[in-house]
Amino acid sequence: MASARATGPEQQASLSDAEAIAYKRAAARSAADLVHDGMRVGLGTGSTVAFLLAALGERSLPEARFAATSPATERAARALGLAVTGLDELGGELDLAIDGADQVDPQGWLVKGGGAAHTREKIVAAAAREFVVIVSTDKLVERIGAPVPLELVPFAVQTTLHALGQAKLRDVPASPDGGLIADYLGPVDDARALARRLSAQPGVVEHGLFEPEIVSSIVIAGPSGVQRRAGAKPPG
Ligand code: 5RP
Repeated sequence: MASARATGPEQQASLSDAEAIAYKRAAARSAADLVHDGMRVGLGTGSTVAFLLAALGERSLPEARFAATSPATERAARALGLAVTGLDELGGELDLAIDGADQVDPQGWLVKGGGAAHTREKIVAAAAREFVVIVSTDKLVERIGAPVPLELVPFAVQTTLHALGQAKLRDVPASPDGGLIADYLGPVDDARALARRLSAQPGVVEHGLFEPEIVSSIVIAGPSGVQRRAGAKPPG
């Protein structure tokens, strides 16, 4: 599956594949400690979240309930013995949600959707009292840049792409909700202004820009260990 990645001169020092894997695992295992039995927990999607699932699968969490953001996460979580249920069945409220990201800027803006799950991921993150992002240091960028993932209504998709300007369909299957996955490829001078513009465009189901106000904290793992940076979302 194609994935959006932080690229360009502003990208932090790149990591070898082995380093990126080790740091993703470290961030995920650190965040797994935030999960306690009895909690209602949102599970993101992607390779970093796969390490989170593995860590949770090793624990005894018989009363915890999990809302998954993709069929892949749901399958993997169930296979590890985690009790997955729908967000609606959990009353639309979660104690905690944990997810990866493709880009994180110094203000706490995220780009998500490299795994095309950003619509469900945003719904789950917004339903959580605490939203924790888990990343390796190569996801840290000085400035958010393209590609910004999109999910589009299939009807008249060429019209929507034309109205967006620089945007292209991604060669991946439709989302489980029937949306077509695309990427906005134009400039990102002001993330908030672009988020507003993408949200206002008819035909856009959701975009992959997550505002700092949705993020409680960011667990960052790299060569100097694991750090937890506070986000803009107030606790509670
Ligand atoms: C999926 C996502 C992922 O969280 C993001 O792409 C990061 O993926 P990975 O943990 O594999 O690097 O937004 O839609």
